[in-house]
Amino acid sequence: MRPIQQTDVPDTINWSVFKTLIPYLAEYKVRVLLALLCLVLAKIATVGLPFILKHIVDALDGEQLQLVAAPIMLVVAYGVLRLLLVLFGELRDTLFGRVTERAMRRIGLKVFNHLHHLDLDFHLNRQTGGLSRDMDRGVSGINFVMRFMIFNILPTIVELLFVVAILAFNYGISFALVIVVAVTCYVAFSVKATQWRTRYIREANKADSSSNSRAIDSLLNYETVKYFGNEAYEANRYDRELAVWEQAKRKNRLSLFTLNGGQALIIACAMTAMMSLAALQVAAGTMTLGDFVLINAFTMQIFIPLNFLGFVYREIRGSLANIEKMFELLAKPTKVKDSVNAVELAITDGEISFEQVDFSYQSQRNILQQVSFKIKAGQKVAVVGASGGGKSTLVKLLFRFYDVSGGRVLIDGQDIRGVTQQSLRQAIGIVPQDTVLFNDTIIENIRYGRTNACEREVQKAIDLAHLRDFINSLPDGEQTLVGERGLKLSGGEKQRVAIARTILKNPAILVFDEATSSLDSYSEQQIMAAINEVAKGSTSLVIAHRLSTIVDADNILVMKDGAIVEQGNHQQLLQQDGEYAKLWQLQQKSDSTSKDNKDNKELT
Ligand SMILES: Nc1ncnc2c1ncn2[C@@H]1O[C@H](COP(=O)(O)OP(=O)(O)O)[C@@H](O)[C@H]1O
Ligand SMILES: [Mg+2]
Repeated sequence: MRPIQQTDVPDTINWSVFKTLIPYLAEYKVRVLLALLCLVLAKIATVGLPFILKHIVDALDGEQLQLVAAPIMLVVAYGVLRLLLVLFGELRDTLFGRVTERAMRRIGLKVFNHLHHLDLDFHLNRQTGGLSRDMDRGVSGINFVMRFMIFNILPTIVELLFVVAILAFNYGISFALVIVVAVTCYVAFSVKATQWRTRYIREANKADSSSNSRAIDSLLNYETVKYFGNEAYEANRYDRELAVWEQAKRKNRLSLFTLNGGQALIIACAMTAMMSLAALQVAAGTMTLGDFVLINAFTMQIFIPLNFLGFVYREIRGSLANIEKMFELLAKPTKVKDSVNAVELAITDGEISFEQVDFSYQSQRNILQQVSFKIKAGQKVAVVGASGGGKSTLVKLLFRFYDVSGGRVLIDGQDIRGVTQQSLRQAIGIVPQDTVLFNDTIIENIRYGRTNACEREVQKAIDLAHLRDFINSLPDGEQTLVGERGLKLSGGEKQRVAIARTILKNPAILVFDEATSSLDSYSEQQIMAAINEVAKGSTSLVIAHRLSTIVDADNILVMKDGAIVEQGNHQQLLQQDGEYAKLWQLQQKSDSTSKDNKDNKELT
């Protein structure tokens, strides 16, 4: 099935979407019924108005006028009816508003939850901005469809039938016929013209969203733009998108003109025909002046709601497509899901083992081949190797962001595919290479590790992560806002926040994925000290860039091109004189050169 594009408005209406909405309407049965009752009452008032108007005119008309009281009473009745019409309309909206809003809330939450349950792969392949827009459009689509379908289209049809019947019954078939023909032409023309216009609307929407994402992407890269001094280039690219948008909008407007013009023409013809018929009959004496006014009022009344038909038809179609797209999102299956008989992970010691694990993100390219290793309870195991070797992938598999293609991953003897994701992730804590923080205060970001932790535990985590001095140095202290994604903190500070929240989580298994590689040697030492303290007694997997930070590991795995090529402790690996020894010598050399350079500088 081809996913519907952002800006697609399909050419036909998919009525089945309504079915999916019914349960949401059913939640407030009484309200819906009352709202429909108001709707009927308002319609009765609407149809009654022209009749009162007719009697007023006839009462005021020449010879028959004897008493002033009668027309006055009628005028008052007219006013009251008009008021009732508006009041019932408002009441209907008020009653129904709650129903739509509740449906929007329910569905919005459902989609939000579902998005959080979809696999990482889905999210990496989708732009978050586009996703939230899809959600937004879907939810407002529900609002639109519910309101307009139930309170615009349906009542219009009811009113039309009423009026045609009244005209045919009271004034003969010809009046009813004119209305039927005119309305048929009007609807046919509106639908056809709207379908024809769809292309232009689509173009305009597409231009709108692509200029939008251009601007967002550019602003997200604010710093990069500055680094390269490319403001003018960015402005130019944005303006090119805007020019396309402007052009599309122009075509869109011209097509709207055609639609509105055609509709006006049909209405004008119908009005003229009705009025001429009525005028002839008044002249012949078979109709009163009041009848003339009544027919005029009915004709106008019928076409007013039809005026919006083109708009409503298009919007409903668009809304239905948006709702459908959102429901499609809801129906999207998660690749990684709890098995039906998933149990809670039972942690005894926190032993991890990878058994002949094969893995690929895409079927064409193998990332891990036959990876096997074991981390015994309480051990610290390090993984080293060139970038792109598959180290972080190991962590993603351990967290079960993806399922292995071959082999298995066990924690304390339990295949992680057989336990609930919630309990699995509960058991593991990670300090990633690039920590992303919520745009909130430092303390809230730390508390995120365990949202129900008490204040004392949070403070202890701050101390253990060596964050105390830093926080004390801030004017706003713990309440300092960290900026979007935590950009107001330095790399080392962010890492320490990440460590603090992992301490708070207090998991049985700890993972550090190059947690210090973006830091200078001094911060690295500090953070390593914090990490070692935290990891004491826990099973830990440390992915390291600088070998000097993991010489004390119980076991070191050397990864190359997705396979483990060597393993052993530091001494053993040096003696093997293989990849590890080479890497070690390389890093020692570069360390000593940088030291030498410093010494030289100090000498000069
Ligand atoms: N989501 C993904 N989709 C496709 N390929 C990926 C994805 N994530 C990582 N890769 C690829 O997998 C390989 C291993 O990546 P990774 O485990 O991050 O390496 P390391 O952490 O050792 O630097 C890299 O070549 C990378 O391009
Ligand atoms: Mg990595």
